[in-house]
Amino acid sequence: MEKDLVISAKDLRKIYRRGSEEVRAVYGVSFEAYAGEMVAIIGPSGSGKTTLLNMIGCLDNPSSGTLSVGGREVFGGRKELSERELTLIRRELFGYVFQKFYLIPTLTVEENIMLPGAFYRAPGAKAAHEVMKLLGIERRYNHLPGELSGGEMQRVAIARALINGPKVVLADEPTGSLDSKRTEEIKGILRDLTRQGITVVMVTHNLDLARSADRLLEIRDGKIHGG
Ligand SMILES: Nc1ncnc2c1ncn2[C@@H]1O[C@H](COP(=O)(O)OP(=O)(O)OP(=O)(O)O)[C@@H](O)[C@H]1O
Ligand SMILES: [Mg+2]
Repeated sequence: MEKDLVISAKDLRKIYRRGSEEVRAVYGVSFEAYAGEMVAIIGPSGSGKTTLLNMIGCLDNPSSGTLSVGGREVFGGRKELSERELTLIRRELFGYVFQKFYLIPTLTVEENIMLPGAFYRAPGAKAAHEVMKLLGIERRYNHLPGELSGGEMQRVAIARALINGPKVVLADEPTGSLDSKRTEEIKGILRDLTRQGITVVMVTHNLDLARSADRLLEIRDGKIHGG
């Protein structure tokens, strides 16, 4: 069976300019990811991992290069997409797990998880309960983020990324603050997502998690190193 090409990036670059200084955050990255594939991105701090992930997720536009997601040319194509079209792509295609979680401190766990849906398919409490159960946080549904451990916050962030039924989950350090037992659990959850055909692209410093991916991209100084 031929697999769907979900992400196709060619020669992506992101250059930041500050006065005469030029920071080549991402400098010529090309890669493809298919439906149900798990790709891990590793590399030292400052090598461009978050910048790359943000471009793939259409949260940040590249300085040059082309990007297609879900079969649509997003950047560098024949036609430039409007902000509205980009917004639709972001919420229909992607679930984001950010390095810093970004949970709203005044909303409960359940409300945080339902939030992305509030502006979209309005999935409601039942769907929220399902993803909470999947992540093992259903008994925390009525807690505020400030009452959770780092690992629980991380799992709330992952649950929130799943609420709109994304085709691609982009995760920046999804196990950054978890112990090895919890990391194993998240590894299993991410693997289950790929079995449902979801593409997972994650940045991780955890070599065990990285090796469990179908493909490993090592980036250094904004470029893919080796394979
Ligand atoms: N908005 C910005 N303006 C200028 N430079 C930036 C900006 N964002 C990132 N950079 C620079 O781009 C480079 C890549 O940053 P990036 O955040 O992608 O690294 P990273 O690999 O995710 O690092 P870490 O593992 O520490 O999260 C760094 O040198 C960083 O200082
Ligand atoms: Mg980063």
